[in-house]
Amino acid sequence: MALTTYAEVRPWARSIKNRVVAREMPPWHIDKNIGIQEFKDDISLTDEQIATIATWVDTGAPLGDPADIPQMPQFPNWSAWQIGEPDLVVRYPDYLVPAEGPDVFGSLYAQFDLEEDRYIKAIQTRPVDGRSRQVVHHALSYAVGQDYDDLTNDGTQDQGVFLVEYASGKGAEIYPEDTGKLLPANQKARVSYHLHSIGEEVQAGIELGIVFHPKDVVPAHIRWSKQLARHNTDLDIPAGAVVRQDGYERLNKAAKLTAFQPHMHILGRYQCLELIYPTTPIRSEVVSCANFDYNWHLVYNYADDVAPIVPAGTILHTISWHDNTEANRANPDPTNWTGNGGRTIDEMGFAWIGWYDLTEEEYAQELAARKARREAATNDDDQ
Ligand code: HEM
Repeated sequence: MALTTYAEVRPWARSIKNRVVAREMPPWHIDKNIGIQEFKDDISLTDEQIATIATWVDTGAPLGDPADIPQMPQFPNWSAWQIGEPDLVVRYPDYLVPAEGPDVFGSLYAQFDLEEDRYIKAIQTRPVDGRSRQVVHHALSYAVGQDYDDLTNDGTQDQGVFLVEYASGKGAEIYPEDTGKLLPANQKARVSYHLHSIGEEVQAGIELGIVFHPKDVVPAHIRWSKQLARHNTDLDIPAGAVVRQDGYERLNKAAKLTAFQPHMHILGRYQCLELIYPTTPIRSEVVSCANFDYNWHLVYNYADDVAPIVPAGTILHTISWHDNTEANRANPDPTNWTGNGGRTIDEMGFAWIGWYDLTEEEYAQELAARKARREAATNDDDQ
């Protein structure tokens, strides 16, 4: 639906209040009461804005004085690339997803046609249209050798370089300044897909857009993106139950964490990321918690000044809650047991973490610089 005129908005007033007060809309599901709150691309409303909308609805959603209607703002084109105009676009072969059938998994291939090594600065996978968006559960892109073939893969073939994940509702990954990822020359692009039938046949198309650093630039850090702190595979979610699961992952090097993106499936409701530091006595802190909605695989990119800087040996701890009760509106069948698995109707829990490694020296420098900034800010406040 469009929400650009009073006539369009008025019938949705009650629903708008519900979605906005529950902080489901606009789609930004970070828990405002826990952890870091400064992000690069926060589109959430303030408490005051929410109160204004709620009061307007409660007082009958009046039009007000037509003379006060503001100019129509310039809206971004939501279908445009979020990384700006890509230097390279790879279109994978289409896949005909049947109207009905089990979920399908596999690989599709295309060429990068890249003759020299380049560093990636920003990257985005997108289903090519709204119909494709409905059936693409996930799409993970890799750069692999020309002879890579997953039909004949006996486990010995090099898996290549992992580039980026897509899952429903996800946008672009824009790396922090001075970080990047190497895309080697003469590789072929592989997308590992998971597609889900929706009751109508869909010709699904997926494309990958990449913006490179300039040719002569070698970024100071490699920006990693991996699924980490996955919980055990013995996930057991009885009908009608809410189940908590924990996952752990040790970072062997000091690091700056730049992005947090919870991943679960349709029963996923809430996930927290705790950092357990290798200190004596052990110290830990919860840096982020977010409500989870399977339609929105949102990446939360920390603002540079608050992105966690962690020592080598830090343990990432994810705490994921799955809700198999009737209260979960997304639950297709609260009478059904659900367990671990890869299908959309199975469950899993881990976090996609974006980060880059720091040497011990860089870690000490980053920490000292942050401490100095904080002290300067405190002194300013005191004056
Ligand atoms: C203050 C801003 C916003 C308001 C008041 C709002 C309101 C709503 C409402 C009332 C619904 C429920 C519709 C239904 O019941 O069928 C909805 C769903 C939806 N909205 Fe928004 N929205 C906002 C921002 C956004 C933004 C920024 C996007 C896109 C980036 C977006 C995309 C969607 C989509 C795709 C759905 C359907 C899927 C879902 O329910 O999650 N909305 N929105």
